[in-house]
Amino acid sequence: MTLALVLLGYLAGSIPFGVLLTRWLRGVDVRQGGSGNIGATNVTRVAGKKLGALVLVLDALKGALPVALAVRLVPGQPLVHVMVGLAAVLGHVYPVWLKLHGGKGVATALGVLLVLAPWAALAAGTAFIAIFLLSRVSSLGSLFAGATAVGTTACTAPATEYTGLSAFLFVVMLWTHRSNIGRLLRRTERRF
Ligand code: G3P
Repeated sequence: MTLALVLLGYLAGSIPFGVLLTRWLRGVDVRQGGSGNIGATNVTRVAGKKLGALVLVLDALKGALPVALAVRLVPGQPLVHVMVGLAAVLGHVYPVWLKLHGGKGVATALGVLLVLAPWAALAAGTAFIAIFLLSRVSSLGSLFAGATAVGTTACTAPATEYTGLSAFLFVVMLWTHRSNIGRLLRRTERRF
């Protein structure tokens, strides 16, 4: 059961909605524009706010749904929930369909946390919006959101395993945002 759920999480996470929707609905490859990332931020740059919002929701759902299923099928086993959530985020970052060149995992991690630690997800979402509105830089919002999620998961989540997941996801985000961090430090990061 655990293996099946983890596999499901990975396969769901690896669905590249950003690539598929921009190709199907706009006839463009999101990887060829803006930052080249497949996530909602770059979809917004390349294909507009509506499609960006749709990709944000779908990328979050592909993290939330497998984890919600795991919570329902194996309640009281937080380690399994964590493994499924991690698999979904890693599926987004390393999708089998895109030769392992995926996105940065922010929306999918948010979806996972919405199920496992909803207050932390809410706090992270609020942190993203606040920092984004102040700076107009999406990556800065994402990094602050990731850090906020770790602290708030520790304070509010029902299992310590979920805090471990939050911390690990933040490390994954630091890795996937390494080029953004470089640009932030050089003050050359893209603004909206
Ligand atoms: O969620 C991704 C965001 O933090 C950065 O995206 O396209 O500006 O690299 P991008």
